[in-house]
Amino acid sequence: MQKNVIVMGRLSPTQRAELEQHFQVAELTKPLDLTQPDVHSMLSNAHGLIGSGMQVTTTLLDAAPALEVIATISVGYDNIPVDELTKRGIMLCNTPDVLTETTADTGFALIMATARRVVELAEWIKEGHWQTSIGPDLFGSDVHGKTLGMVGFGRIGQAVARRGALGFGMRILYSNASPKPALEQELGAQRCELHELLADADFVCVTVPLTAETEHLIGVTELAHMKPSAILVNIARGKVIDEKALIEALEQGVIKAAGLDVFAQEPLSSESPLPRMANVVALPHIGSATHETRDAMAQRAVDNTRLALQGKRPISLVNEEVWR
Ligand code: DGY
Repeated sequence: MQKNVIVMGRLSPTQRAELEQHFQVAELTKPLDLTQPDVHSMLSNAHGLIGSGMQVTTTLLDAAPALEVIATISVGYDNIPVDELTKRGIMLCNTPDVLTETTADTGFALIMATARRVVELAEWIKEGHWQTSIGPDLFGSDVHGKTLGMVGFGRIGQAVARRGALGFGMRILYSNASPKPALEQELGAQRCELHELLADADFVCVTVPLTAETEHLIGVTELAHMKPSAILVNIARGKVIDEKALIEALEQGVIKAAGLDVFAQEPLSSESPLPRMANVVALPHIGSATHETRDAMAQRAVDNTRLALQGKRPISLVNEEVWR
């Protein structure tokens, strides 16, 4: 009997066909309405669930007793209760590696855009203000030769740091649970405590995953540690920064600017002042959003699902315990 896979995200026709060679494949749209009998009946027979941005709750898991694997098309899995999956023997797979360089590109785009006021000045031209040469009130800040502080030094953090050190001659500081001697060697990066990094860096770039420990890691106190000339970039998860404290810091000149790809609530509420602030570059969570990378992520999720349901070890397994 073929196993059943439910797709709740974007797959190419080829990727879907690949799954269909091995499994019965059905699609469900988000958000799931578990009160719908057809949704309930599909979940009750599902062995694999593949998709992005899925809100996985215990109610959903209770409705899917045959589930063997959840393959998220993302590297982050803060929307999925990993311990609960492990307890139930369900494998969780994600998509690291394939999005590292693209997400680092987004981080660097935000560093450049905020420092050189790219979006603000492009808007300024569109509004017809360019009547004479610009003056110091519209000048930006240099990026090259400055100090880049990486909060989190995993794959994506290291890739941002590599761009800074090798492309822009930046000095690299990082705060991370474990030291990274190879990167210290390669980039001259220095590990330090978070408060030291915040006080010293011209650019602070956040790349830590969202966990109970990192929620609001950057709040009023941390923002106050930063230089008034410093720029904060977040390509991790919105909730790592206390957004209310950030808005106040940007309004009061505690820090100079922010480049944000992620927000506490996504899509961003129309009430949020952030996208309208001149010293903010706000993006709609585009970290990995290129055709090539999203395709590679979906392919990784397809491969993970296929392997897991065929009794083989998936490529990117988050909860190793289930495999053991
Ligand atoms: C991820 O994969 O977690 C990214 O945030 C998606 O762009």
